[in-house]
Amino acid sequence: MMKITFYGQNSLAIKIGDIDIIVDPFITGNDLSKDKVDIMDLKADYILLTHAHQDHVLDAEAIAKNTGAVIVSNFEIANHYEENGIEVHPMNHGGSWDFEFGNLKYVNAIHTSSFPDGSYGGQPGGFVIEGEHKNLYIAGDTALTMDMKLIPMQTKLDLAVLPIGDNFTMGVDDAIIASDFIECDKILGCHYDTFGYIEIDHEEAKRKFYEKGKDLMLLEIGESIEL
Ligand code: NI
Ligand code: MN
Repeated sequence: MMKITFYGQNSLAIKIGDIDIIVDPFITGNDLSKDKVDIMDLKADYILLTHAHQDHVLDAEAIAKNTGAVIVSNFEIANHYEENGIEVHPMNHGGSWDFEFGNLKYVNAIHTSSFPDGSYGGQPGGFVIEGEHKNLYIAGDTALTMDMKLIPMQTKLDLAVLPIGDNFTMGVDDAIIASDFIECDKILGCHYDTFGYIEIDHEEAKRKFYEKGKDLMLLEIGESIEL
């Protein structure tokens, strides 16, 4: 069983068996989620960070220190947190590792990755998780890229978390093409509505996916789905 809970922007909690994973925690700085979620209530054995932008890492250190979770990210981001006394697992693009929750691969994304203070956060990425029974792609912040076509050559996805807010990442139309590239028609939308630049029309977005025979899910803050 894989349970995925949405906490706004790209923030997710994923439960695989009895392992708790937090992805890109940005909650205390998000007007849509800060009054609905207490980060001190979140359980985490691992925290996956796609890149170093503030809207992905803001609460990572606090959650790691509260839970003892291991931060998994690219080499530069892992080093940053290790210097702050947090246990880390560094990866880089194209690399995979067998964790206790399954195999995790750090895959390409086209975006940028500076920390909020401007320091170097390596190159941005996404994650492919091959769990015991279900496979998940978390694209992170990215443009539509041909590299997405590599994913289904190795992994049959059950669900993909794709950004759909446009301006900083793919918008809805490019995310529909991405869905073709990764050969996955079940999409959880993320990276929308948090700021003025990325507000979207939910019904129009869902309709566009539906017209292509695809399912776009847009969850409320704190809402979960199970695979
Ligand atoms: Ni970003
Ligand atoms: Mn972002």
